[in-house]
Parts: sequence; structure tokens; C-alpha cells
Amino acid sequence: MVNERQIAVLEEARLLPATAKNIGKLGDKYSPEYSRWAFGQWEMRKRGKEKFSRAAMMQFTRAGLEMATHERIAAYHASLFPGGVEVLDAGCGIGADLMALGARGPVVGVDLDREHVNCARHNLSVYGFKGKVGRGDALEVLAKGWDYVYCDPGRRDDGQRLINPEDYQPRVEDLRQHLMQVKLGVMKLSPMLRDEYLFGLGGDVRFVSFGRECREALVIFPGEKRVSAVHIESGAEVEARALTRSVAEPVRYLYEADPALIRSHALGAMEMDGVGDSNGYLTSEELIESPWLRGYEVLWSGPWRIRMVKDALREGNWKVNAVKKRGVKVEPSSVLRQVEMKNGDPVQLVMYAIGEKVVVSIVRAM
Ligand SMILES: C[S@@+](CC[C@H](N)C(=O)[O-])C[C@H]1O[C@@H](n2cnc3c(N)ncnc32)[C@H](O)[C@@H]1O
Repeated sequence: MVNERQIAVLEEARLLPATAKNIGKLGDKYSPEYSRWAFGQWEMRKRGKEKFSRAAMMQFTRAGLEMATHERIAAYHASLFPGGVEVLDAGCGIGADLMALGARGPVVGVDLDREHVNCARHNLSVYGFKGKVGRGDALEVLAKGWDYVYCDPGRRDDGQRLINPEDYQPRVEDLRQHLMQVKLGVMKLSPMLRDEYLFGLGGDVRFVSFGRECREALVIFPGEKRVSAVHIESGAEVEARALTRSVAEPVRYLYEADPALIRSHALGAMEMDGVGDSNGYLTSEELIESPWLRGYEVLWSGPWRIRMVKDALREGNWKVNAVKKRGVKVEPSSVLRQVEMKNGDPVQLVMYAIGEKVVVSIVRAM
């Protein structure tokens, strides 16, 4: 735990810029280690504001902050568990998920890393939630038998992202063996893992969208291998459903699908046609508002021939300010240079493939 001298140095460092002079000054007064720690905490508290509304009162480690779940997503994780029941967070890190779980009932957090345990204990108290946090091996604690378990195995080693889930800590397979036995178990994994792997784990798989990014894949036990996507900001949820049809060119409106909708194979749930081989562009005659879609009015479509595209831009008095692409090997910045016009109303270029051919649509954001 943080001692009184650390609390004092933290307070003194609060408004001081992290210059060598200030770090040295507090280092002389307290200790170089405490001084570096205090300035580091303030730097991390500043960065932590992106994830936590009370970051200015929390305690972090660098790795712990980086691995921590955003509080909005953590609140969703917590909402999956019944209110009031005790949940074990097996590998709780600095406690982002633990705090959200604590808002709905009793929690037990365990982590191998002593510093993380200290941070999690402090952070839980910042929010005034009750819970037990201790140092230990999650697998040993799990072996004692639990009804409700959350786990977010470490996916980084020395700051590098681990690609193989068998390198995650604790190992996914070891966690899975335990989660198969509980009343409700939720495991957070990378959405980049292959379908066969994720769908083979035996639980339901939910891809999570936040800030228009597919942030994670949640595997929920017990499950029936159902696949879905959830949109944190709106609370919308859709089940996987394949597209039934794709057209060569978009009609009146083109829609860019949310990455989690694409990742969960749920494009068909929008009940529109796909566009070419884009796996992510949809089209409709109707103007549709949906948290899963970003809409554009289609102004022109045709093959990717620079002269044709430039003629269309000139005729429409349009100037391209962004290039989007799906499934096409082009460099957007180089395309932007190639279609540069001096003036015109702002439009965007959307590029996608149909077999070997590349098709372009000139669109206007709605
Ligand atoms: C991805 S982090 C958890 C982040 C946490 N969910 C949050 O949002 O703050 C994974 C944590 O698991 C811990 N860990 C790894 N192996 C462990 C084990 N065998 N037992 C307990 N903790 C472990 C690491 O120390 C790390 O803090």
C-alpha cells in the first residue's frame, strides 16, 4: 500500500511540472524513487482521463493503465452479472473491471502483480466500493470453486501485444476449463483472434464496439456459441446474420458498417444489400439512422479510372477531402493526390473491389 510519505510527495508534485529540477527537488526531500513515482502517477492520471472519470484520484502502473478496460465498457461487462452476487475478477490488474463490478455488488479481485493489487485496492476505494483484493494466482483461486467469474487475461509482454492466446497470462485454455463449470463466466479476449479459435471455445461470443472500433471479443459461459455484436454507446445489440445479396454499385445511400458489426458477421442484420466484395459497405434507397452505420449520399459511381473520376469531380464541382477503401490495395494519400482539384464542394471517395475490378463512388457524408 502507499505510505504517508508517498501521499505527501504525491500532493507536493500535484501542481509541479515534471522537470528534472522538480523531480530532483522532491527526490532530495523524500527519496528519488518516491519522487519519480509521484510525477509518474500524475502523468498517468492525466492519460487515465481518457478511460476514467475519476482518474485524478486513481493509482496506476504503466502496463496496468494500458491494459485497463475503459469505464464505459467495464460497466457493460458488469451489467452481464446479476446484481448483488459475488464476482471473482481473476487477474484484476489496476481494477478497471473490478470497480465496475463493485458498483453492482461484492467483488473479489486477485492478481499476481503486487503493484496491481495495491492499485486495484486503492481504486476500488476511490469509488467507495466494497471488495477484497489480494495477491495470488488466479488459477489457484479459481480452483476453489466460484459461481460468477470475470477474467481479462494479460495480452502483453514487455509492452508487446501477444498474438497467440496460449501465451496470454493466465492461459486461455486454463481459464476456459474453470469457466465451463461456473454459473456465469465472462472472458475478455482480442477481437483479432481467428473465428475458429473464438467460436471453438464453447461460449457465446460478443464483439464489442466502442468509439467506432471493435475493442474486444467477450466469450460468455455457459453459452450456445451464439455470435453477436454490442454497441456500447447506444446499448444496441445484433445477432450474427450473413448478407444475402451484394450489388455492383451502391444506390442512393452508401453505409459504412461499424467494425464490430463486420467482425461479428452481422451485416445481414441491417437488411440491406452489400456493395461489391467490400465486406463492410452497404447500400439502400432509404436514409437510415442506426448506431451501426455511417451514412453517405452517393453522387457518382464508376470504375477506378483517374480520368473518369476527375471528369466526374469537375462536372459536379466537387473536391475530394478523404479516401476510404475496403479490400483494395491502394494508398489513400496517393489517391487523394491523384484526384486533387483546386476548388469544389467537399466529397469523399469510396473504393472497393468486385473480383479484379476496382470501383469508386463519390459520396457526401450525411
Ligand atoms: C489485462 S490485465 C487485467 C486488466 C483489468 N481487467 C482492468 O481492466 O484493469 C491482466 C492481469 O492479469 C494478471 N495476471 C496474469 N497472470 C496471472 C495469474 N496467473 N494470476 C493472477 N493474475 C494474473 C496480470 O498481472 C495483469 O494485471
